[in-house]
Amino acid sequence: MKTLKVLLIGAHGRTGRLIAERLHHDAMPFRAMLRKSAHKSEFAAMGAEIVLGDLTNDFSHAFDDITHVIYAAGSADTEGVHEQRAIDRDAVMRAADYARRRRVQQLVVVSALSAFYPERSGFALRHYSRMKREADEYIAHRGVPFAILRPGPLSDAAPHGAIALANELTEHKPEVARADVARIAVRCVTLGIRNRMIAFVGGDEPVDIVLDSLRHEPPHAIRHAAPTSR
Ligand SMILES: NC(=O)c1ccc[n+]([C@@H]2O[C@H](COP(=O)([O-])OP(=O)(O)OC[C@H]3O[C@@H](n4cnc5c(N)ncnc54)[C@H](OP(=O)(O)O)[C@@H]3O)[C@@H](O)[C@H]2O)c1
Repeated sequence: MKTLKVLLIGAHGRTGRLIAERLHHDAMPFRAMLRKSAHKSEFAAMGAEIVLGDLTNDFSHAFDDITHVIYAAGSADTEGVHEQRAIDRDAVMRAADYARRRRVQQLVVVSALSAFYPERSGFALRHYSRMKREADEYIAHRGVPFAILRPGPLSDAAPHGAIALANELTEHKPEVARADVARIAVRCVTLGIRNRMIAFVGGDEPVDIVLDSLRHEPPHAIRHAAPTSR
């Protein structure tokens, strides 16, 4: 049995850094994947291993000795369809392929709530949401234990520790703090939440209670939770 080691892809992003801080806080060994060596020291100070890699190239070397993967990378708001295809879809699919080859125990991916309804998204979000959705569908059928997170709009607010489950019918979409997404991503690893899709927005249901309830559901069900009442 391999010792737990998490590969954090997109470690230098806004959500990625919060995930790194949480892994460090919880004393979980991790490897931060970065594309710029200038960002190394921040993660080395947390005791992380560092691997450099660009998601538009082969990054399979990052998966050596890894038991769990958290994918928190994403194309930037200012980038176009090419980057969305490369980062929000193709690199996620390749991460699933690498994870399967290395028999990784769990792949946690930060997707987006709008992946439920690309065709109903505004023009600016439509292609991005389609890429997220195609990546999610690939992961769910790739044979790697997965947890797909579909948060609504993100904010940099302080962690609230609470969310509301959501689905494609959810109309009211309060922002959810990146810090709460980070907490959920790491809790998926520690609780061993597998083969679940968890869609959520800002809300008042304590994260740990929500995740505990998901843990007791039958395996292999992709969860499309009941619509939030908010
Ligand atoms: N914004 C929202 O409201 C919203 C809502 C729902 C879901 N999401 C999703 O949530 C996730 C986290 O979002 P965020 O806003 O926290 O992310 P972010 O701050 O934009 O960070 C994205 C990360 O991806 C990395 N990245 C991009 N292209 C790369 C490449 N070619 N090779 C290696 N790394 C690359 C960036 O690396 P550098 O640091 O080197 O630039 C950065 O660390 C994303 O998947 C996003 O799509 C966002």
